[in-house]
Amino acid sequence: MPRTHAAPSVALVGLDARAAALVRESVDASLTLHAPLAYGDALAVLRKQRPGAVIVSLDSDPDAALVLGQALSGEFGGLTLVGLAARSDTARLRVAMRAGFRDVVVLPDDAASLRKLLASAQPLAQDSHAGTVVACWGGKGGVGTTFLTVQLAAEMSPVHRTCLLDFDFSMGDVAAFLDLAAPGGRTGAPTMSDLLRNADRLDERLLASLVTHHASRIHAVPQPSALDQREDPTDDAIARVLAAASGAYQYVLVDCGSRLDGATLTTAAVADRLMLVTTPDVPSVRNTWRRLQLLERAEVDLGRVHVVLNAWDPKVGGVGPADIALHLKRPVEAVIPYDRAVLRSVNEGKLLRTLDPRSPAAQAIAASVSVVTGAEVPAAPVASGRPLAWLFGGTRGEGS
Ligand SMILES: Nc1ncnc2c1ncn2[C@@H]1O[C@H](COP(=O)(O)OP(=O)(O)OP(=O)(O)O)[C@@H](O)[C@H]1O
Ligand SMILES: [Mg+2]
Repeated sequence: MPRTHAAPSVALVGLDARAAALVRESVDASLTLHAPLAYGDALAVLRKQRPGAVIVSLDSDPDAALVLGQALSGEFGGLTLVGLAARSDTARLRVAMRAGFRDVVVLPDDAASLRKLLASAQPLAQDSHAGTVVACWGGKGGVGTTFLTVQLAAEMSPVHRTCLLDFDFSMGDVAAFLDLAAPGGRTGAPTMSDLLRNADRLDERLLASLVTHHASRIHAVPQPSALDQREDPTDDAIARVLAAASGAYQYVLVDCGSRLDGATLTTAAVADRLMLVTTPDVPSVRNTWRRLQLLERAEVDLGRVHVVLNAWDPKVGGVGPADIALHLKRPVEAVIPYDRAVLRSVNEGKLLRTLDPRSPAAQAIAASVSVVTGAEVPAAPVASGRPLAWLFGGTRGEGS
């Protein structure tokens, strides 16, 4: 997806004369600003105009602005899409980011940020389609989120340009799973901290210099090995990293760990697919349910959310796929068995598909790729079993 640095033009959508004048006063005088378009006409005109950036009013018709944002970001990966609003707050920013906006600016206060955003805009390549961002999020710590994110990335990487981002800012350990030598510091490989420090000017070329190439063809950005080198990212930096990665790769797999923080919530807002990983135990399933509730309240489209059960051993039992489907009211779209080969793979820092491709977990992971790509997945049967009301806030006496 080669891009040039010729000055791109800037399109305006839904702006009245006052707002357009405010934009004109705020941006670099050398930029070409097109005349404002109506929301309804914008998509057809922009397909021909191919600007590098589009500024859309979020106030004139908020619904039309969000629909247009989704259409533009879906069709033109790498487009600098900016929302213009009279006021901004975190909830509004997330809704806009979910629709594909890179940022929301309030003028004239954010004039400097707008200039920066437009300075990084690049003309659209003819084939610029945004890659698919797939976020993996654990119902709780230790459920196998990193293991699954890494193995799924390895399933994609032989045929697709695949990037693996470590967004577990507490104790991310993608580096260990890929056996990458101590990233960070003066001599180590680049890390997520380097990416975040450069978030404002991150383009495809800079991103390419900050990824580590693994033998599997995964391009990974790990967390630094030294815990004190970790950055506390802003939502904006996270959104920029995701936008840059999805502009450059066909698949971006993100290990979100299990925390509820700005990084994971922003990722949940913008990801194309969100895999919630649970193990067959009550706390993990219950916390997956709580996460689903949170996502629903945050107006995340639950159609993008997919539940994965990891480390399931029918001989041992626990809360199985059918019970989980019953209580989460959604299918379990992948079941990865408990498998001793996993521990070996983790301890040796080798991919399971390399170490033991015939192991049950490796085979189940290979079969689960459809959850990443979005191909039709047969739903696991919903149980007719007894309700486990105590899982979701009741007591253990209920439903037994
Ligand atoms: N399918 C499986 N079968 C057997 N063991 C597994 C399986 N999946 C994960 N494990 C084990 O669980 C451990 C934790 O895995 P992993 O580090 O991927 O979890 P996590 O959810 O990322 O944890 P953290 O919260 O620390 O980030 C690993 O050491 C691995 O051996
Ligand atoms: Mg982890």
